[in-house]
Amino acid sequence: MKSFVYYTPTEVVFGPEGEEQVGALVCKHGGSRVLVHFGGQSAVRSGLMEKVCKQLEAVGLKVWMLGGVVPNPRLSMVREGIELVRREGIDFLLAVGGGSVIDSCKAIAYGVPYEGDVWDFFAGKAQVEKALPVGVVLTLPASGSEMSDSCVITREENQDKRGYSTPFGRCRFAVMNPERSFTLPAYQTAAGVTDIMMHTLERYFSREDDMDLTDGIAEALLRSMMKNGLLALEHPQDYRARAQIMWGGSLSHNGLTECGLQRDWSCHKMEHELSGLFDVTHGAGLAAIWPSWARYVYKDHLSRFAQFAVNGMWVEAAASDLEAVALKGIEALEAFFRKMGMPVCMTELLGRKLTDSEIKELAQRCSRDGSITIGSLTVLHREDMENIYAAANR
Ligand code: NZQ
Ligand code: ZN
Repeated sequence: MKSFVYYTPTEVVFGPEGEEQVGALVCKHGGSRVLVHFGGQSAVRSGLMEKVCKQLEAVGLKVWMLGGVVPNPRLSMVREGIELVRREGIDFLLAVGGGSVIDSCKAIAYGVPYEGDVWDFFAGKAQVEKALPVGVVLTLPASGSEMSDSCVITREENQDKRGYSTPFGRCRFAVMNPERSFTLPAYQTAAGVTDIMMHTLERYFSREDDMDLTDGIAEALLRSMMKNGLLALEHPQDYRARAQIMWGGSLSHNGLTECGLQRDWSCHKMEHELSGLFDVTHGAGLAAIWPSWARYVYKDHLSRFAQFAVNGMWVEAAASDLEAVALKGIEALEAFFRKMGMPVCMTELLGRKLTDSEIKELAQRCSRDGSITIGSLTVLHREDMENIYAAANR
């Protein structure tokens, strides 16, 4: 069993009433001059933005607004935010939205007190030593960023999408009202559920596999997302289903499902190259890669894949044939992705196949020109990445 540190300092306020407390929460966590950061129009249309601003002003906070964060959030917006925050002496950042808005906020929080270029953190040239506090009003359960230590930003000049993790990435509070996810388009609901399951699986498929308590939590989380994901697609206003998905999103990426295990993250790394280059939805990109990754590595980890099949995917076990059980588990998750309307190959993701040179470029980027490997369950080199992209290129 791997030793671990479990650190989840985010104050979670879950349920519809939480929105009444946003102002008090910002005050409690030390804010007085607040930047409300948001995406397109979804939070304005739903009335959430007006409600949040009223709450902030009611407790005497001074408020600035910065909207326009796009999915796969851009470095240029982060730079704009840093400039605004410095100019106005803002001391608290409030993200109202999904993972892209939260990550844009986190990057602004890192950049404001840093004298160099904020991209240094994402390029591995510097570590965050100080950051502004960030709070969240979550509208999309998916990225888990509201409780994670990660932040993912795209530098648009060369379509580099890079993640950076630091304890400074943990939000001070997260207000989670499942009703806010009622308005999600079906595609975003499905992509969110996929991302949540993938955050669980990237940890579950671990070489260290003697922590059955963590396994049990992960397997229950997977089953819950499958059941409630389909319910939410069928009945978008099913509070019970939306609530389990929202809480599942946070638990899948706050560290709980990796206690005692070793992370893998191969599919995320390969997907980040896809959404960096082609600007696709992150969860959809994961669904398009995972089945090909799984079929590439499963033979070396038969008992783990068989356990996943039986405990996570409801596959009936015929213990004598581990390989058949393992394969059925992979097929079951692939079928679930399809059922939710997610792509499971490149043609379904991009509307066309990748060219040979695109496959090479993706693997080249993901391996940093062949200088790094990814994954820990099976360590993947540049050629393996090429093989997996090629296998998904149907
Ligand atoms: O911009 P608006 O108008 O708000 O529309 C958004 C956006 O178009 C819409 N949306 C959000 N809430 C809504 C809504 N539409 C209707 N009703 C609502 N309640 O959904 C679209 C997608 O939003 P986005 O924030 O991009 O989605 P998500 O939460 O999936 O975040 C994706 C980003 O997070 C990164 C991904 O790579 C991607 O860049 N990730 C961040 C992680 C982290 N920080 O820990 C981990 C993840 O693995 C992931 O990499
Ligand atoms: Zn993810």
